[in-house]
Amino acid sequence: TGTDLAPVLAGARVMPVLTVPSAATAGPLADALAAGGARCAEVTFRTSDAEQVLKEMAAHGGLAVGAGTVLTPEQVDRAVAAGARFVVSPGFDEAVVAKCRDLGVPVVPGIATATELMRALKAGLDTVKFFPAEPLGGIPMLRALAAPFPRARFVPTGGIGAPRLPAYLAAPAVLAVGGSWMATADHLRRGDYEEIRRLTAEAVHGSAT
Ligand code: 3PG
Repeated sequence: TGTDLAPVLAGARVMPVLTVPSAATAGPLADALAAGGARCAEVTFRTSDAEQVLKEMAAHGGLAVGAGTVLTPEQVDRAVAAGARFVVSPGFDEAVVAKCRDLGVPVVPGIATATELMRALKAGLDTVKFFPAEPLGGIPMLRALAAPFPRARFVPTGGIGAPRLPAYLAAPAVLAVGGSWMATADHLRRGDYEEIRRLTAEAVHGSAT
């Protein structure tokens, strides 16, 4: 699995990572992201409303919505039941990957070392999340890690904001860049969907250059 997700990520270039406290914000949030030009989004399983948020954002139709922070096979079941188009994990877990394979849902495991990347490749997964990208050493680390593995494609995430985005996108092995800066808990608390739209548009359109 993962094979049909790579073109989606490559077309999207930017993956907003969302931690949404209340499902009440799911509709306007999906509208704002779509209006900003986002094509996909990751809803993290870090809030009690995450499944409902995922369900409502998936129903919006304008975005390929996946589940993030998926740590267990049981969460994979719940994510898929809620309509997740893909599953993202901060690390590489065999049971999570196996469950995704059983259910036919693409999975993007997190990797931070060559050993973890080799495990993912061995499991047939070419698309991985490089996490947490900035604390791990950012672009120089990503380039060095990618060099021996021409097949691997990366979604760096973690500590990346608008200023660092273009440099990540310019790295050949990078499929898309993930991050929460486009839609933060703070934006949602303030109901600042215009700012979410603006930051998303800046990320998506900036990435075209
Ligand atoms: C994730 O779950 O992928 C990260 O929390 C996103 O990282 P960021 O908040 O540093 O962008």
